[in-house]
Amino acid sequence: MRLYHGIDIVNVDRLRETMDRSAAFVEDIFTQEEQRYCLSHRDPYVHFAGRFAAKEAFLKAIGSGFTAIGIFRRIEISVMPSGRPALRLNGWLDNLMRRLNASGASVTISHTPEYAVSSVILLGG
Ligand SMILES: CC(C)(COP(=O)(O)OP(=O)(O)OC[C@H]1O[C@@H](n2cnc3c(N)ncnc32)[C@H](O)[C@@H]1OP(=O)(O)O)[C@@H](O)C(=O)NCCC(=O)NCCS
Repeated sequence: MRLYHGIDIVNVDRLRETMDRSAAFVEDIFTQEEQRYCLSHRDPYVHFAGRFAAKEAFLKAIGSGFTAIGIFRRIEISVMPSGRPALRLNGWLDNLMRRLNASGASVTISHTPEYAVSSVILLGG
């Protein structure tokens, strides 16, 4: 059994500035469902920052370079009824998980008004 772990921290103001400058950035990074969830909150940017941190933490866990076009949208952070975040992977990322023989992923997010952090753990064969 092998454990894969990634962690990331995001400055909320810096992400807010980038998102306000570029609608294309928002569309490249966040799925429609993620946008809907974050925009339903009073301060959407802390929730966007938590999801951005989770996507980067996942990429660190699998040891990927961050270069593939559209990779961030293939990593979706969904929300369980309890509020707990979950990782939903699309396309070839799902295949990569199978190659790692990863049985599941655990993602956790925390934020203050200034920073969001996320940690992702995968269990591989
Ligand atoms: C879930 C809980 C631990 C979050 O802690 P917090 O200090 O308020 O907030 P944090 O910034 O550390 O974490 C927020 C993230 O926790 C995650 N989260 C929410 N509910 C969760 C749950 N049931 N299990 C795991 N993670 C959860 C989400 O990813 C959330 O980010 P998001 O809002 O962008 O989706 C806290 O709200 C709690 O204990 N809830 C259970 C009790 C409860 O519902 N109380 C209601 C108020 S009295």
